[in-house]
Amino acid sequence: MSPEPEQLRGRVAALLERSRARSTALTDAVDEGDLVAQHSPLMSPLVWDLAHIGSQEELWLVRDVGGRAPLRPEIDGLYDAFRHSRSSRVSLPLLTPAEARTYVAEVRDKALDVLERSPLRGRRLEEEGFAFGMIVQHEQQHDETMLATHQLRTGSPVLHAPEPSAASWTGPREVLVPAGEFVQGTSAEPWALDNERPAHAVALPAYWIDAHPVTNGEYSAFVEDGGYRDPRWWSEEGWAHRTAEGLVAPQFWEKAGDVWWRRRFGVEEPVPADEPVMHVCFHEAAAYARWAGKRLPTEAEWEKAARWDPGTGRSRRFPWGDSEPTERHANLGQRHLRPAPVGAYPEGASPLGVAQLMGDVWEWCDSGWHPYPGFEAFPYKEYSEVFFGGDYKVLRGGSFGSDPSAVRATFRNWDHPIRRQIFSGFRCARDVGPGEAVG
Ligand SMILES: [Fe+2]
Repeated sequence: MSPEPEQLRGRVAALLERSRARSTALTDAVDEGDLVAQHSPLMSPLVWDLAHIGSQEELWLVRDVGGRAPLRPEIDGLYDAFRHSRSSRVSLPLLTPAEARTYVAEVRDKALDVLERSPLRGRRLEEEGFAFGMIVQHEQQHDETMLATHQLRTGSPVLHAPEPSAASWTGPREVLVPAGEFVQGTSAEPWALDNERPAHAVALPAYWIDAHPVTNGEYSAFVEDGGYRDPRWWSEEGWAHRTAEGLVAPQFWEKAGDVWWRRRFGVEEPVPADEPVMHVCFHEAAAYARWAGKRLPTEAEWEKAARWDPGTGRSRRFPWGDSEPTERHANLGQRHLRPAPVGAYPEGASPLGVAQLMGDVWEWCDSGWHPYPGFEAFPYKEYSEVFFGGDYKVLRGGSFGSDPSAVRATFRNWDHPIRRQIFSGFRCARDVGPGEAVG
């Protein structure tokens, strides 16, 4: 049942405000020099992200939905992500931080005016507020990217958040997912992006999947066992990358004496054993899995473990049900500046008992980036379609830095298999062995 326009308008306005508060906090936390600097060739200057957020909002909400005249047509090209690589953006004649702040505020005023006047139905772009939902998600996605830039920045800590609560894991390490069909993707979720559509049946044989993401403690056993020095565990491509880059541990880890330390948003701390490992690339995740006698789950296996309800046979919106995430369900929304220890969210588990699928760390899946059967690009090819078939691997579930408005159990993310500046971790899966009970 779709909500009344007035109700939807209020919800959209609140989500726009929430994303803007986050963008503001992430950019106000550092000085002008930090805003215009390039903290890594993998990332844009923070001030580019900020003005790009405004530029997309202007394009879709002010110009397209609202039919209004452009505010700053001369800057469109500067903030077109397809025209300039991240590493080249620092040398563009970008808006200054003050200009960027003024620009995004002016765009927001106009977008809110458009929101007041849009019927939020009729045209597909406006139906159930889709364009507004897309822009909310876009800003939140860039906020997560800006958070990753903060992690790459050197210098003393500028971001602060409470610690997640302590927890320990008490359940079984793996869960058996029985063979059979489930519904992957969605045709019903109003703000789902084109690549999550349409809903379609997928049949899978039975498999085991880890009940929680692989922890730092588990991952360090692989490191200590010489996992990074043994080509047996790595794919040919992974080994070539590991060797060329000299990888010896997850990004931001360093060993002092017998102890692994990590740098997290400017804080140096011993690596906590009970937290999901993060800042590993696909190749590292796959190598660990092989060392552990397992493999990475496919994207379909991840989604079935997250959504399939054996009681009803239907697929849920989230592992815990259809209700929106709360802080009891998952570590989302940058409430904390780190993943939570495994066992922290028993209420967020799926019906089969698979935990911490949403939030904490993005989870690498052993699937390339492909469209679902019946895929239709909407509202533009550059959102997903132009990336299909590239060397990408799929990531699922969101991280502690993903906002609840920007992630669902059907949400699909993708990146190059060598990337690890993102908040990426993984869990393992394995086939059912001969003689193992399959229920
Ligand atoms: Fe963007």
